[in-house]
Order: sequence, then C-alpha cells, then structure tokens
Amino acid sequence: MHLILQHAHMLCNSNRELKNFCRFSTNLTDNNLSPTIASASSSITTTEFKSSNETLPIIETIKKYAGEASWRQTYSISEVGEDFANRHCYFELIGPNGHYYNKAIRVFVCYWGEYLNYDWHSHEAEEIYYILGGKALFKTKTMTKVLKANDTQFHKSWESHATEILDEPLLALVIWRGNGLDKLAQID
Ligand SMILES: [Fe+2]
Repeated sequence: MHLILQHAHMLCNSNRELKNFCRFSTNLTDNNLSPTIASASSSITTTEFKSSNETLPIIETIKKYAGEASWRQTYSISEVGEDFANRHCYFELIGPNGHYYNKAIRVFVCYWGEYLNYDWHSHEAEEIYYILGGKALFKTKTMTKVLKANDTQFHKSWESHATEILDEPLLALVIWRGNGLDKLAQID
C-alpha cells in the first residue's frame, strides 16, 4: 500500500492542478486497515485501463496491490441500482478512515465499470478528479466534457455533478478537502 501512496504523492507534486488543490507527505500514520473486497474489486487486477505515460506506473501498482486494499461501495442498490452497486468500488488511500491517516484531505482510488451512469450527486467537500485510466463524460450544470488519463476536473462545495462512463472502465484518484470531509456524497 505504501508504494501506491508514493505514486500518488509523485503525481500530486508533478501535476499543477493537483498540487494547487492539496499537499500531503508520505510520512503518514498507517491505520493498518484490513483488506476487504467489494463485488467489483476483483475485476481491477485483470482490466487493461487506457493510461497515459504519467498514470501507467500508479495503475500497475494499484493492480499489483489491489488485494491489500480495503475496498468499499458507497451506495445501496435502492439508491443506484444493482449494476452500479456491483461494478463500482473504491478505497480510501488517505483520510480520517483511510489506509493512511490525514484529517485535512481524503484521497480515494475509485473504479467504475464501462457504461455505468453515476447520477447527479453532491457533497460539501471540494473535490478534484484525476483520471488514471479509461474515459468518461463529466457533467455539471454548466459544462460537459470528456476526461481521459491525466485530465482533472474540479467541483466546488455542493456543486451537483454526474459522470457517464464511456466504453472503457474508469480508474481515478478522487481528492476531497475542506468542510464536510467526514460525510459521504448524496444522490441529488
Ligand atoms: Fe463528487
């Protein structure tokens, strides 16, 4: 897990948008989370994500150590449907409940299967997406754009947003900061 942390740290120092959004060190307390699986987590090790030169190293590291992660699924089947619940999962790399403790930011590694629709949702924390692999259509009430590996997307506090995963599975770093860090996203 520490190698994933090191790769995330390198990306956050080399990408201007990520660097402006947050800073963290690799000298964080290990919360010693036990590995857990989610319905989708086994797919990750065998998926060929469409990456970039910048993101290939962390993708390979995530796939290699996926079995050590505490995978979770946020939403119930009644909120998002069975397909979404079964083909989306994430783990918290850094954060209050993450593999590495930090009370100021949360860094999630998130996976979605191809053609999933992540419906309109919002949260108090500010957010930046950094795409590691795959591509998806990102929507807010004021813009729509396709993001691919090495692209970023910022969401303000309580800004409603939605994502349509296109024809490839999506792997992304999702980073939160600010108020509401301890609360999860809600479907709007
Ligand atoms: Fe979000």
